[in-house]
Amino acid sequence: MSDAPDSREETRCQAPGDRPDPSQDRVRELVLSFLERAGEMSAAAGEAGTPVYVLEAEVIRQRVETFLKAFSSRLPGFEAFFAMKCNNSPEVAREVVGAGLGLDVSSGLELAAALQVGCRRILFSGPGKTEEELALAAANADRVTVLLDSFQEMGRLNEAALEAGSIVTAGVRLTTQEEGLWRKFGVPPAALESFMIQAADRPAIRLEGLQFHTSWNLTPDAQTSFIARLGGVLKDLDPALRESLSFLDIGGGFWPGDGEWLLAEGAPGPPEGLPRGRRIIPAAPIVDFAREIAAALSEHVFPTGEMRVYAEPGRWIVNDALHIIIRVADKKAQDMVITDAGTNIVGWERYETDYVPVINLSRPSLTERPCLIAGSLCTPHDVWGWSYFGEGIEPGDLLLLPRQGAYTWSLRQQFIKPLAGMVRVPRRQR
Ligand SMILES: Cc1ncc(COP(=O)(O)O)c(C=O)c1O
Repeated sequence: MSDAPDSREETRCQAPGDRPDPSQDRVRELVLSFLERAGEMSAAAGEAGTPVYVLEAEVIRQRVETFLKAFSSRLPGFEAFFAMKCNNSPEVAREVVGAGLGLDVSSGLELAAALQVGCRRILFSGPGKTEEELALAAANADRVTVLLDSFQEMGRLNEAALEAGSIVTAGVRLTTQEEGLWRKFGVPPAALESFMIQAADRPAIRLEGLQFHTSWNLTPDAQTSFIARLGGVLKDLDPALRESLSFLDIGGGFWPGDGEWLLAEGAPGPPEGLPRGRRIIPAAPIVDFAREIAAALSEHVFPTGEMRVYAEPGRWIVNDALHIIIRVADKKAQDMVITDAGTNIVGWERYETDYVPVINLSRPSLTERPCLIAGSLCTPHDVWGWSYFGEGIEPGDLLLLPRQGAYTWSLRQQFIKPLAGMVRVPRRQR
């Protein structure tokens, strides 16, 4: 390693109350893996200018392969569709499609982008689809399956398909929580039979499947408990209707195995003092999701009839494949710098709650030093972090935030500062 940091150095970011911080080893391991590639990452940013998203297509390919292997080995005929809302870059869409996924879109905009990259297996899900969006789906019925969100939408899709002279393959989304804000999605499971009876009367719709989605799953529990509930619904369904169902889409929401990295609640942060502590909430490995979901399906769903299984992963596929590089524009105190980028490039005040190590590529070191890393927008909430890994920090330094590919690029907003571009790093030598 050329810029060899001293790996025996102590990290300085302590958990609140100076208790030993169990997250330390994992954070250091991640930082070290990027310090080893500081030259390559700096060159990518040097070429493109900052701020910039750095795309590692190879990581996408590995993630797709691992995801498909975990599920396909247990569920023959399994198919996965990347949730474009998680990262709507056409570059990313091309990579995931090239690696063997279909695309899951949630608007006409995303559908048009999916068609544009030549995707032939598209799921169109989401509430409130407009007439124009349904017409676009109907005009591309050979490659789009529409996941219906309501009885009313079923009627409108039928109209759009009649207009287009096509027959559209469809599924219906089932509501997983009938109380509170989540009830806005889908049709209550108890209404499935009447939904299917009505669909049978719509000549331009072929209703073939079911979808459900649960979010932010650190374990497969939410998915397996809904599968158990679904088993009961399918058992009571008219057998002829049950036979017409050929796919079950289990949605997305698989949390990457590294877990959720958060700033510790209640830990001292400015103005009380730097740095803030952090906590890592572990997530189950993807093979555990696959094993437990397959077991739940075998117990509750397959006894009522076979079904192909679909999934719509977003975060799990793309999060680790994109990194953000920004530059220090100003140093206002030993423990405060301003960067050339505002958090408008990720679209929200993410780093007030999420922890990501800020790695100084220009002064590599495994020492974590307290420093407010602020963006250049006109709000104090424009924060990248409360510390950085490096041997000091000065104007002009390149700072890398690793693994920021999910719900950043697609949420970026034009506010004061320019949007960041995207650059690819060359394939790594093995
Ligand atoms: C219907 C649906 N499918 C898939 C996803 C992707 O979720 P994740 O990126 O957590 O895998 C979402 C996210 O909101 C969703 O709403």
